[in-house]
Amino acid sequence: MKINLAKIKKAIKILNKNDCVGIPTETVYGLAGNAYSNLACKKIYKLKKRPKINPLIIHYYNYLNLEKDCYFNKSFYRLYKKFCPGPITFILNLKKDSKISKIATNGKNTVAVRFPKHPITRALLKKLRFPLAAPSANMSSKVSSVSASDVKDDFGKKIKYVLEGGKSSIGIESTIIDIRNKPKILRLGGLEISTIEKVLKKKIIIKNNSLNISSPGQLKLHYSPGIPIKLNVKKVNADEAYILIRKKKQTKSNYYFLSKRGNLKEAAKNLYSVLRKIKKSKYKSIAVTKIPNYGLGKTINDRLTRASKF
Ligand code: TXA
Ligand code: MG
Repeated sequence: MKINLAKIKKAIKILNKNDCVGIPTETVYGLAGNAYSNLACKKIYKLKKRPKINPLIIHYYNYLNLEKDCYFNKSFYRLYKKFCPGPITFILNLKKDSKISKIATNGKNTVAVRFPKHPITRALLKKLRFPLAAPSANMSSKVSSVSASDVKDDFGKKIKYVLEGGKSSIGIESTIIDIRNKPKILRLGGLEISTIEKVLKKKIIIKNNSLNISSPGQLKLHYSPGIPIKLNVKKVNADEAYILIRKKKQTKSNYYFLSKRGNLKEAAKNLYSVLRKIKKSKYKSIAVTKIPNYGLGKTINDRLTRASKF
């Protein structure tokens, strides 16, 4: 991908003034601001209408830049070497003298950090004197953005600039792992758990909220296209949009396909853009076919389950 320095400089100028910029990442687009600035972080929450108790992920160029702010351990190094930059977010302990805004971490003594792979955002991070706090660039509880035009659809002129970086290649958020003690997955994401387990050579506990049915408070609506979604549907009404995992020979106008042949990687990549497309259409509800519940299919099911709590 070609990197346009003038565009990067424009983004830097805005970020240096503690304002926000839309940035491309390989997972989803982020709404970025200076992670060391309370002002910039407050703006992010306000723009997204995000509850203050939900902390932000901090994006770094590499671990050398991270050393000032956090403690890390052997498991972190192992996963970092194997997967970073890439779709994995680590929960680490904050250093007392860390400069990360307390607004970004909601005053917690832990912080979520990530090293995005997208070349444009890497070029940006390399030139900045601070890391970027960047939640997904969508209104709180709604569908994430996987292109610059999605970000513009959601925020319009409320944000000064969006760096154009094409469609996100993974298309679903990073996998979040708490690596401080016994590794725990806190959010299923674009990196499969089995590949993480291979590197750490152990089984990892999944504490993904939406799978924790015993605490229904955690099953809050998220990733929502704003219309009802039904899951595991075999028969659909003509006035509903129908999401299928693979292309059918005989298609209908209300059918939307996540992939050509049922490939889960391709399906994950297309999930949010299909949900956004349906939202813009005439359909007032969505039915989804059964999605295989392994690998990235688990992540897709996690997002759809939360989106169905309408
Ligand atoms: O792929 C991604 O991770 C994207 C791109 C833009 O990097 N970002 C993203 O951010 O998905 P966001 O804010 O939409 O989701 C961040 C999640 C939230 O569920 C938040 O609760 C959790 O990370 N989080 C942040 N700090 C945390 C902490 N200290 N402990 C546990 N969870 C944390
Ligand atoms: Mg989000």
